[in-house]
Amino acid sequence: MKFFIDTANLADIREAQDMGILDGVTTNPSLMAKEGITGKDNVMRHYKQICDIVEGDVSAEVLGTTFDEMVREGEELAELDENIVVKVPMIKDGIKAIKYFTEKGIRTNCTLVFSAGQALLAAKAGATYVSPFVGRLDDISTDGVALIEQIVTIYRNYGYTTEVLAASVRHPMHLVQCAEIGADVMTGPLSVIKALLNHPLTDIGLAKFLEDNKKAATK
Ligand code: G3P
Repeated sequence: MKFFIDTANLADIREAQDMGILDGVTTNPSLMAKEGITGKDNVMRHYKQICDIVEGDVSAEVLGTTFDEMVREGEELAELDENIVVKVPMIKDGIKAIKYFTEKGIRTNCTLVFSAGQALLAAKAGATYVSPFVGRLDDISTDGVALIEQIVTIYRNYGYTTEVLAASVRHPMHLVQCAEIGADVMTGPLSVIKALLNHPLTDIGLAKFLEDNKKAATK
């Protein structure tokens, strides 16, 4: 399973990269705004900085909602760095843009996916990744992990190569459940990745090992 970090925070990206387990980064306009990154030049510079830190795919989202706008923005983003994946919303013009990018060899991430039918469209357009939002479905009392399972099954039925990127992963059990189902990628905040480290028996066991070693050394 690939681990992507869902943030535009450079310190968090560096920390995840330093752990040696990071496969890529996803961002969205809200995450960029959270870091105070606004204006085209600043946004482009920030994406380049992220690409310089990470050895892996970096999803950069278009802001346009028409085919022409998305194509113009996406082509500029793809020029920035070979690791840029153009993130395109699940709308009619978005599907058309994904198909266009696919034919041009530009990789895409189809975002804001909340149903299996939307995921099918993304795969048919040739998206590199599809991003179903697990947490946001859970927020409205709908089983987000079940959607991941449904999409994985459908893609396997037909051999689609689009990778299932479980997005809006909010806690470690989301991540583990998505891994059990066979999601290709998960993206979530650094806190979710770090939460995987935690087990009280690990802490108790380590403290005991160190204490026993200390006791033996002082005998
Ligand atoms: O980047 C898309 C998705 O991961 C957002 O997550 O937590 O804002 O629903 P969240």
